[in-house]
Amino acid sequence: MCLRTLLWLAVLTSASAQVTNLRSIFRDGTIPDPALQPEYDFVVVGAGSGGSVVANRLTENPRWSVLLLEAGNDEIFLTDVPLIASLQSITGYNWGYKSVRMKTACLGLVEGRCNMPRGKGLGGTSIINFLLYTRGTKKDFDEWEKLGNPNWSYDDVLPYFIKSENCTKCNEIDERYHGKNGYLNVEHPGYESPLVKQFIKAGEDLGYKNVDPSGRTALGFSKVLATMRDGTRCSASKAFLKPITSRPNLHVSIRSRVTKILIDPNTKQAVGVEFYKNRRKHVVRATKEVVLAAGAINSPHLLMLSGVGPEDVLTKVRIPVIQNLKVGYNLQDHMAMSTLAFLLNESVTVSDRSVQNPVDIFNYLLNGRGPYTIPGGAEALGFVQTKLSKVEDYPDVELVLGAGALNGDVFGSLRSLLGIPQGLFDRVYRPFMQVPAFSIAVVLMRPKSRGRVVLKDGNPFHWPVLVPNYFEKEEDVKVMVEGIKMAISISQSEHFKKYNATPNPIPFPGCENTPFNSDKYWSCAVRQVATTLGHQVGTCKMGPNTDPDSVVDPELKVHGIRGLRVVDGSVMPNVVAGHTNAVIMMIGEKASDMIKKEWGCK
Ligand SMILES: Cc1cc2nc3c(=O)[nH]c(=O)nc-3n(C[C@H](O)[C@H](O)[C@H](O)COP(=O)(O)OP(=O)(O)OC[C@H]3O[C@@H](n4cnc5c(N)ncnc54)[C@H](O)[C@@H]3O)c2cc1C
Ligand SMILES: *[C@@H]1O[C@H](CO)[C@@H](O)[C@H](O)[C@H]1NC(C)=O
Ligand SMILES: *[C@@H]1O[C@H](CO)[C@@H](O)[C@H](O)[C@H]1NC(C)=O
Ligand SMILES: *[C@@H]1O[C@H](CO)[C@@H](O)[C@H](O)[C@H]1NC(C)=O
Repeated sequence: MCLRTLLWLAVLTSASAQVTNLRSIFRDGTIPDPALQPEYDFVVVGAGSGGSVVANRLTENPRWSVLLLEAGNDEIFLTDVPLIASLQSITGYNWGYKSVRMKTACLGLVEGRCNMPRGKGLGGTSIINFLLYTRGTKKDFDEWEKLGNPNWSYDDVLPYFIKSENCTKCNEIDERYHGKNGYLNVEHPGYESPLVKQFIKAGEDLGYKNVDPSGRTALGFSKVLATMRDGTRCSASKAFLKPITSRPNLHVSIRSRVTKILIDPNTKQAVGVEFYKNRRKHVVRATKEVVLAAGAINSPHLLMLSGVGPEDVLTKVRIPVIQNLKVGYNLQDHMAMSTLAFLLNESVTVSDRSVQNPVDIFNYLLNGRGPYTIPGGAEALGFVQTKLSKVEDYPDVELVLGAGALNGDVFGSLRSLLGIPQGLFDRVYRPFMQVPAFSIAVVLMRPKSRGRVVLKDGNPFHWPVLVPNYFEKEEDVKVMVEGIKMAISISQSEHFKKYNATPNPIPFPGCENTPFNSDKYWSCAVRQVATTLGHQVGTCKMGPNTDPDSVVDPELKVHGIRGLRVVDGSVMPNVVAGHTNAVIMMIGEKASDMIKKEWGCK
């Protein structure tokens, strides 16, 4: 990043801090460092989308004490501004994971490896995410139930989505499906480029209605909803932790890295955790339960370090096996082609350059409106079915309209998030840096490929080995190619003709030998430059004890272990056809009710 950019960001964020205080959006200050007790009723590991909800709901009972342990820091104002969401991933708020090199994906990216960003800090991945609010479809949850998980059907989970949500300011929604009394603020961005209407019209031409994707059917096109409060990011911690810092029965300890869940090998009872804070090792006991909410990479990692995992792997690294379970398998994720750029002859788009003007900056600082409120640059969504889709009323691809494209990535943060090498950028995008452009990201909703999180060794500070196997199944590539063709046809529709929308004519390196714009070309491009949307889930699969692949039961308790639940994205048996943040908060709400019921509260 150049000096000017850094200066601009410094001004923006410090001013933002001032004005945010003036607007006093977040009334409730910082998290005090607690005087740690030797034991609590519940110890929650990880303050992300799942853990923040659980910590909140369990401390509604004043007789229960809860310790929430988070490896990262508190949020800062830099994480607040929705438009610059991609910037968060180059900060310490990202664990910074990368996959191994694979033959099937990320071939053209830096080191030939996939970035697998995960959030670290109060709020977890919801402080680096793109704020898009969606829930997946009815069929997703009905399928979870069919797999042997009673009470997880759509009708069972819908009340929990509504419980979390405060969608008071939303207008383009089906009210019956939304809540107004929850902790999580959801709203439309305070800005709309002219592209949105055209995109929705182009969807109508393809036979898709303008719908609320959280409503009766997900299929269709819509303006985005975002987890925001007055134009500022509403992370899981802003929603669920900041308003309750005064509860004396909740202790939140940051910079506290859990290294082991303590399980009695004879009784198979989880009794507490071991963690490091200020370079010192601490042990706390949990008299009722340990709730593991460290996310889809770190939760399986911690389980394996604690003796719960595949016998062969644990034996190899000399960890005594307490429970032999397929921890770390079933890794699923949403891959996206975020590199399509459609060049225009009119500046109706939003880029790093276009928003460096004082009007946009002051409109954001004073009113919480304008282009800075566009979540990660995404303005509208289309959930569609390609011709390969076999399930009725079920999207296999999502199209995300971006108000800008990679050629406008002056600051370099988007490149860096995706892992786009400098050489690729210089060749494919730099020639168009001055040209207005929008993008349509194509997302594979129902991947067939499955990956794995593997324990590397017994050192808890070493990363696990990440083998996501993206696009291992050829079918996944085929669906992506059909989705890309839909995106291109939308860009070429009459609605974008008035801006003379033209796909970037420069082929991606590595694909020059295939006929440009052919199916072969796009298959090649998918394997070269498609990237994750950060929706890693599935690695502690929920299922009945008759399912040999499952790790937790339908009440999210680890099979064979007492006093230990997993409450985060890793429990999803299948990834939903939508973004995952709200789904994981729903899982947190539902888990909290199950815990309360079990321990005789409510
Ligand atoms: C770049 C990006 C963009 C995204 N965009 C969207 C979007 O627009 N909409 C959407 O719905 N979803 C989006 N997602 C996905 C979504 O945010 C995540 O699925 C969700 O936040 C994950 O919730 P979780 O509770 O499973 O894990 P996390 O939120 O990751 O929480 C895990 C927490 O545990 C902590 N932790 C881990 N290990 C330890 C340890 N050993 N000791 C103590 N603490 C530990 C972590 O630091 C973290 O705070 C995006 C993700 C990424 C990466
Ligand atoms: C499902 O929910 C019903 C009613 O809430 C409850 O009676 C039942 O025990 C639950 N079943 C399981 C398996 O949790
Ligand atoms: C919901 O959000 C609105 C507007 O942002 C706010 O005025 C209201 O107090 C919130 N409701 C609750 C229950 O927090
Ligand atoms: C952009 O191109 C379209 C189609 O060629 C044309 O109709 C329109 O006038 C052009 N707009 C500008 C501002 O040049």
